[in-house]
Amino acid sequence: MKAEKDPKLLYNNQADDWSRNEPILLSDFSARPFVLDMCEPLQGLNILDVGCGEGYVGRQMLKRGAKHVDGIDISDKMISNAIRIQEDENIRHSTYRTSNILDFKVEQREEYDLILAMFLFNYLNVEETQMVMEKVFELLKPGGRFIFSVPHPLLAYLKKDKYPFYFDVKGGYFSGRNKLFPGEIWRRDGIAVNVQCIHKTVQDYFTCLKSANFTTLPEVHELHITKEHIKFDEDFFGPLEDLPLHMAFKIQKV
Ligand SMILES: C[S@@+](CC[C@H](N)C(=O)[O-])C[C@H]1O[C@@H](n2cnc3c(N)ncnc32)[C@H](O)[C@@H]1O
Repeated sequence: MKAEKDPKLLYNNQADDWSRNEPILLSDFSARPFVLDMCEPLQGLNILDVGCGEGYVGRQMLKRGAKHVDGIDISDKMISNAIRIQEDENIRHSTYRTSNILDFKVEQREEYDLILAMFLFNYLNVEETQMVMEKVFELLKPGGRFIFSVPHPLLAYLKKDKYPFYFDVKGGYFSGRNKLFPGEIWRRDGIAVNVQCIHKTVQDYFTCLKSANFTTLPEVHELHITKEHIKFDEDFFGPLEDLPLHMAFKIQKV
């Protein structure tokens, strides 16, 4: 199958494989619980979830006490699934809209206490990432926090086997910068979802934050498989032991 480059079509074509209320994707185990903990304290917060998908993370933030979650996603199918699940479960306090974050106009500045971008920037090049971080800076209240996770920039270069996660690398760590690597992530039930990574270096994330006017140092975590993951399912998590899978950043607007 030809790899789909347009993220809207990529996610419209597989929206139902992303709908879930229990962890099933690799990153539901290896990233999302850690990033949600980084978002604490969530009580009473007004949150923007950029690239919110079908709302899996937003629903968890509401369960943890957030006051309201606005979700934006380029895929109308992911958004219609988010709205359907929200209605089925009678969840209030979230609002979803279909929008490309690059076209999103900042109308109300300093609106949010927390802005989350969970695995969004792997769909944006360096220049677009910086543009989004500039919007994030404007949308955050002073004292507000920006938290994002991305595939670890080294991961694609370390992994030789396809299962349970791989990228089709184009170029080296530096020459591959801004190039699109199509990839797949397996769910624990054996279904693979198509993903992509527009490769960026570690330096790119720091440079984009600085150019977007963030002035403090981010808290940075390199996320990986733990002993608990391997005890839980050795076949699934074992091949990824000791690899840097994801990076998560938290930075405050002062
Ligand atoms: C890997 S999924 C992550 C979804 C969700 N954040 C999560 O963690 O479950 C990436 C999401 O980013 C969305 N996306 C990609 N490019 C986007 C853009 N330019 N504007 C808004 N959403 C975008 C995709 O449609 C997809 O739903």
